[in-house]
Amino acid sequence: MVAFSPLAFITAVAALASTAFAAPTRTSNQMTPRQNGPVGATHSIVVGRAGQLVFDPENVVAEIGDTIEWHFTPRNHSVVQSNFANPCVPAGPNAFFSGFVPTMSGQNGQVFQIKIYDKNPIWYYCSQTNGNHCQMGMAGVINQNFDSNDFTLRKYKENAGRTSVSQSPPAIYGGLLIPNPNPLSGFKKN
Ligand SMILES: *[C@@H]1O[C@H](CO)[C@@H](O)[C@H](O)[C@H]1NC(C)=O
Repeated sequence: MVAFSPLAFITAVAALASTAFAAPTRTSNQMTPRQNGPVGATHSIVVGRAGQLVFDPENVVAEIGDTIEWHFTPRNHSVVQSNFANPCVPAGPNAFFSGFVPTMSGQNGQVFQIKIYDKNPIWYYCSQTNGNHCQMGMAGVINQNFDSNDFTLRKYKENAGRTSVSQSPPAIYGGLLIPNPNPLSGFKKN
């Protein structure tokens, strides 16, 4: 055991306390900011709502700092980022991928989240080959350029319909597959 005098102990506590109080104070009603900036909104997208090969909503406008959160329903879907020009194929090695999230009924216990870091359009699809989900139009976009008549979700889907076999990245990437923090989001009736 290390022996210490009561005086030394009090001095140590006082030193600790002064360090702690040197930190900037925060009023109690302030939210704790996340490490990488202000807290943004969360946009929930239901994957395969009502057994359909859809993302709902399939067209989302998000701000920098927002979170996109996909909620999976039956049967066995994924979310993969692609380029506009090459639907149903991952957008290179940095494409986000949720992995396949098979769901028997209701809503899966896990969601896939990505963060929005810029305002560029983000195209994505379901890479399930059993039933050709992407070719059947299971695709979505975040921050579509609404000034363009060329880079539309409708055209992406038309091009997707002309592809043959969807591809999946090798592993979950570019986002978080985590326990569902917002079970009602995307499902709650307002
Ligand atoms: C889900 O789909 C993937 C890709 O087709 C497949 O590898 C996996 O076995 C499926 N999982 C289940 C539980 O059906």
